[in-house]
Amino acid sequence: MSYKIEVNGQSHDVDLPGDVPLLWVLRDELNLTGTKYGCGVAACGACTVQVDGIAQRSCQLPLEAVDGPVTTIEGIGTPDAMAAIQQAWVAHDVAQCGYCQSGQIMQAAALLAETPDPTDEDIDTAMQGNLCRCGTYPRIRAAIHDAADKMKEA
Ligand code: FES
Ligand code: FES
Repeated sequence: MSYKIEVNGQSHDVDLPGDVPLLWVLRDELNLTGTKYGCGVAACGACTVQVDGIAQRSCQLPLEAVDGPVTTIEGIGTPDAMAAIQQAWVAHDVAQCGYCQSGQIMQAAALLAETPDPTDEDIDTAMQGNLCRCGTYPRIRAAIHDAADKMKEA
């Protein structure tokens, strides 16, 4: 069956079974490999994307259940024009191995869209499902505060 989905502002017709997780549609069909596979059971956050601005675990979201425009890490900035949150990530040297970081950024971007000036507690609550084996949590928190400040100034 064919499904029409919008990803990063572009419309795609995807001819796949409806139960295929969005993660594999993104990675294998659309070649958007910035979204990572970690656990496959919605327990790590590596596969986080936004659907209609809401952070979702794409490993557990079937294609047939995608009900809004999808934004992936490739859709929020470019190397020449990084989003404020990406600039903050670079400024705070957040990434270590990097594997979890696209999911972290997509989760954090959804938080900032809803809560432009988050407290430490807001951040910890929003980010608790995004695991980082490298332990970058303190820098993630600092980068989110920094991004919030930059976005207020802009
Ligand atoms: S791969 Fe989706 S939450 Fe871990
Ligand atoms: S930066 Fe290595 S898992 Fe998070």
